[in-house]
Amino acid sequence: MVTLGIETSCDETSCAVLDGYSVLSNVTVSSLKEHRKYGGVVPEIATRSHLRNIDKVLGEACERASLSLGRIDLIAVTVRPGLIGSLLIGVNFAKSLSFALGRPLIGINHLHAHAFAPFLNGKEKLDFPLLGLVISGGHTEIYRIEDFNKIKILGRTRDDACGEVFDKVAKYYGLGYPGGPVIDRLFNERYKREFKFKCGKIGYDLSFSGIKTALIYKKKEMEERSELTAGIKKRLLSSFQYTALEKVIQTVLEAVDRTGIKRVACGGGVVANKYLRKRFGEKREKADFLLSPLEYTGDNAAMVAGLGFYLYNKKGLHDNLDLKAGTE
Ligand code: KG4
Ligand code: ZN
Repeated sequence: MVTLGIETSCDETSCAVLDGYSVLSNVTVSSLKEHRKYGGVVPEIATRSHLRNIDKVLGEACERASLSLGRIDLIAVTVRPGLIGSLLIGVNFAKSLSFALGRPLIGINHLHAHAFAPFLNGKEKLDFPLLGLVISGGHTEIYRIEDFNKIKILGRTRDDACGEVFDKVAKYYGLGYPGGPVIDRLFNERYKREFKFKCGKIGYDLSFSGIKTALIYKKKEMEERSELTAGIKKRLLSSFQYTALEKVIQTVLEAVDRTGIKRVACGGGVVANKYLRKRFGEKREKADFLLSPLEYTGDNAAMVAGLGFYLYNKKGLHDNLDLKAGTE
């Protein structure tokens, strides 16, 4: 069965073609460069970019998969959460295709799709229950996944998302956007405890805004004392990354202990982080961390198509042309 996935929730326009869970093509065009000078995603720019690119991205995805549109059996599109203008482009494009081709349409939750990324290409076995960890630029959530149509949120951030804090701290330190990959590259384990920072936690809920403020004040303090050298920046940011990611790791391990569920599906942009991947590798005696392959950590349509195929094929779910986009 051939599934077409469409993803436009934020600044990536992506289309993917899957045969079952095998990814035949996954084509993504990002408007990242256009947002850089503003230090974050500008919704209107993202929306216009989707509109300009979506039909080309679809054409390229079909070409790389060596398939014509007529071969598509199912269409899966991200319906929430995300920027409403961006979502509407993907959803309406998908509805038009579904109507024109006479193929079923399924609406997908973007965050659940991130948690599905480890299962693409049959890399991991779909056994339940699972825990889920999604850490991205807009979200930080821990799930209990009884099945992909029965997901309960155990914890989430109470303020900024984990990736968002990387982006904001990097912006304040003059390192550009997006900040996650830059801080990841600067990180040196030798300096991870050089500065003491803290992150908030209530149950499985997390809070990152306090550490962001602490990093901002620390920078001001160092500047006033003329001590903010490149070396000090590196030490501060290494301590920041260590504290923020360890809080996530600790919270997930607590969920593993309390629920007794030992398989954790991890996805979202921050899962690309080298230190995080290494730490999850080291913790394998406690739990099996099913990490999204690097190429599917960021926003992509392959994860949307994969989850769409699963829900349609195994759970009998599908939507109609009344499907609505939503920000939450
Ligand atoms: O999942 P994603 O591509 O988009 C959203 O759905 O938000 O995640 C983007 C986020 C950004 O905040 C980016 O800074 C962060 O993921 N990110 C990273 C790394 N690569 C991307 N954070 C830490 N380390 C990385 N290597
Ligand atoms: Zn995402």
